[in-house]
Amino acid sequence: MSEELLRLENVCIDYKVRDGYLSAVKDVSFHINRSEIFAIVGESGCGKSTVAHSIMRLLGKNAKVTGSILFNGRDLQALSDKEITGVRGHDIGMIFQNPLDSLNPVYTTGNQVNEAIMLDGVDKLEGWKKVIELYKDIKMPDPEKRARAFPHEMSGGMRQRVMIAMMLSRNPALLIADEPTTALDVTIEAQILEIISQLKREFHTAIMLITHNFGLVAEVADRVAIMYAGELVEEGNVYEVFAHPVHPYTRLLMAALPRQTKREGRLQTIDGTVPRLTESKPGCRFANRCPLAKEICFDQDPPVRRLSGTHSFQCFFAEEVE
Ligand SMILES: Nc1ncnc2c1ncn2[C@@H]1O[C@H](COP(=O)(O)OP(=O)(O)OP(=O)(O)O)[C@@H](O)[C@H]1O
Ligand code: SF4
Ligand SMILES: [Mg+2]
Repeated sequence: MSEELLRLENVCIDYKVRDGYLSAVKDVSFHINRSEIFAIVGESGCGKSTVAHSIMRLLGKNAKVTGSILFNGRDLQALSDKEITGVRGHDIGMIFQNPLDSLNPVYTTGNQVNEAIMLDGVDKLEGWKKVIELYKDIKMPDPEKRARAFPHEMSGGMRQRVMIAMMLSRNPALLIADEPTTALDVTIEAQILEIISQLKREFHTAIMLITHNFGLVAEVADRVAIMYAGELVEEGNVYEVFAHPVHPYTRLLMAALPRQTKREGRLQTIDGTVPRLTESKPGCRFANRCPLAKEICFDQDPPVRRLSGTHSFQCFFAEEVE
């Protein structure tokens, strides 16, 4: 069995909008190995959720995806609707920022998790026992009682645990977590992250963790990719990127993180604005904000360059920074 689970190669995603197209993702390539936590970090609107939804084939009809998305060597875009539904049920799970959107308000959470378990032909009583086991696995306080509670009777952190339990019941090889802790306070956030790390350790689940919180990345991720305006600008092992950020955008982000509060460090704003993405013309999308920009940056795509087997970045001039 190969170590690699997911590979995106030259993925571009355009949304059809009223006045033309919006190029939300431009030529993005990365891979995720089994049993690792791969974080995608970037400001709001940089295309993180668009990438996640493209993997799950959950994008709306106005989205056009080119490039390839391979899961276990299978081209996900070529699968039939029935096949992709199977992949979503068994192989790839997704948890969202706001679990209330995904939970049904009229059923108890235990029943909803049990529904997921019963899809595998387990009977209801056995399924219920499994629900309680799962609630214990995810350290739900008072599992028997919580399984009988409705979503609105639970805190945000508990609801997120329910979503994780539901995913665990399917035991997916890949879990996509799209800002799973943004709506939670810092203590609960730490607990949810611990559960996510535990999934990796105990169940060998690969996790794609989407966040705009660099602190989370430092704490739990193995590798990280930085996105800016639909482009993947830098990628590497977490310690490489933190110790030696190279791309001017990554460096500005790191410099903007207050030292004392790095753990909680949300991305700070930096000068300038993200360009309108209505056309996918060549050129570096960071050029209008970049202190190193030269003429070439505005009309040619910068090359992907490697610092090591794992650390790469997309820029013409970055190594000149020191
Ligand atoms: N269905 C859609 N139709 C048109 N444009 C869209 C659609 N969904 C997203 N976009 C646009 O695509 C770009 C990327 O959005 P996306 O939601 O992927 O960003 P994000 O990085 O997940 O942001 P956030 O951190 O706020 O969740 C944005 O400019 C957004 O406005
Ligand atoms: S390619 Fe040019 S504009 Fe883009 S980050 Fe590098 S130096 Fe800056
Ligand atoms: Mg998003």
